[in-house]
Amino acid sequence: MSVTVVVGTQWGDEGKAKVIDLLAASHSIVARYQGGHNAGHTVVIGDQKYALQLTPSGVFYDSVTPVIGNGVVVDLPTLFKEIDSLESRGISTARLKVSSLAHLIFPWHQAIDAALENARGEAKIGTTLKGIGPAYVDKVKRAGIRVGEVLNPAEFEKKVRERAIAARREVSDIGGDTFDVEQVVTDFVAYAKRLAPYVADTVNLLHDARERGENILLEGAQATFLDVDHGTYPFVTSSNPISGGAAVGTGLGPRHIDRVVGIAKAYTTRVGMGPFPSELTNDLGDKLVDIGREFGTVTGRRRRTGWLDTVMLRHAMRVNSLTEIALTKLDVLDTFDEVKVCVAYKINGEVVRNYPDTVERLASVEPVYETLPGWNSSTEGITDFASLPASAQALVAIVERETGIPVSMVGTGPARDAMVVRS
Ligand code: GDP
Ligand code: IMO
Ligand code: MG
Repeated sequence: MSVTVVVGTQWGDEGKAKVIDLLAASHSIVARYQGGHNAGHTVVIGDQKYALQLTPSGVFYDSVTPVIGNGVVVDLPTLFKEIDSLESRGISTARLKVSSLAHLIFPWHQAIDAALENARGEAKIGTTLKGIGPAYVDKVKRAGIRVGEVLNPAEFEKKVRERAIAARREVSDIGGDTFDVEQVVTDFVAYAKRLAPYVADTVNLLHDARERGENILLEGAQATFLDVDHGTYPFVTSSNPISGGAAVGTGLGPRHIDRVVGIAKAYTTRVGMGPFPSELTNDLGDKLVDIGREFGTVTGRRRRTGWLDTVMLRHAMRVNSLTEIALTKLDVLDTFDEVKVCVAYKINGEVVRNYPDTVERLASVEPVYETLPGWNSSTEGITDFASLPASAQALVAIVERETGIPVSMVGTGPARDAMVVRS
């Protein structure tokens, strides 16, 4: 019996879903614990590619119960679109459970997200415009509407109407796109009816499963450096992707978590604004975008790219209490003449290994690189560590040296089985 958290160690899109899909085979529950449909989690099975925004990445196994935990903010139009799409492709979503305690996203949250981004001008965050931040604001303000409320349709309708009228005023005040209150009420009454069969007390469901001796996998969305507390604030999301967020967002306590797998890309990417010390704004950066296909799953935006940064990974190890790292997309580096790793920062001439605590300090750092010769051979599909080129093995060794924890998996392609798993 064990509870495992999978968490991003950079700025998202590290390949979390692929690792979750791989681990899910030996777990009976896969639960999302925070974020919402700002996530884009890609799973490749044979010649089929699935991009999930809300459905947990364990949905592809009949043996897995996918759970949307209490910490998630749920956009119902997206959830049902995703369910319909999966069903049309022969994937059953009948086992899905949605926490009665999770909060709902409404169209006004999206309108507020867009209006606030517009107002920020040059200082914009580059959000996904999915209404995630405003939905969490309502939760913390104790003005949110929760999933469990759909089980009482009359009260639900009344509350949605009240909130919609108030939100319409707020949206209009900040210059956002207003909406038709009664249309929203009608749509959400219908969504509520459809959601009812999925609603569950997932907190007790998870504890009961654990006490029966089942294995549970907790799926992080976003990543450590997008965490609202530990990320590069204000260029962050509005939830806690770090492993502590998994306890909050599922109701399993910190001592119930046995294993924390940090997912790190063999280089670094970021979509949206904010400092990025090892960023490559030259042709090498473009090459990473081309070979790594670094375009957002949700927004289609081009991702910013740069070298691997172990100062980040070391900090991620600390704040998540990582037990191990899965290093993904190693194969993307196959054709580079040299491969660099940022192993420290220089601030005013002083070498530091601790992650700076403000974006201002982070923006002032100069990366200190260690350079490896490129291996110039294909690692695509390799599953055995000893078969990796010496220089690729050296890259793995640097990550282990700098973080002090083992690299237990190395990704060598998008396919489900393109992974070195070290025992
Ligand atoms: P997530 O948000 O962390 O789940 O990651 P995304 O799905 O947004 O982005 C990761 C992308 O990299 C997806 O297109 C995956 O199919 C792909 N991917 C995952 N692991 C590997 C790998 O080891 N090699 C390559 N080439 N692609 C990978
Ligand atoms: P997955 O789970 C990468 C980024 C946005 C923006 C910031 C705030 O696929 O790794 P938000 O809409 O959350 O308020 O945007 O966070 N962001 C992500 N970047 N991967 C994600 O999810 C992201 N989810 C949000 O680009 O910079
Ligand atoms: Mg993603």
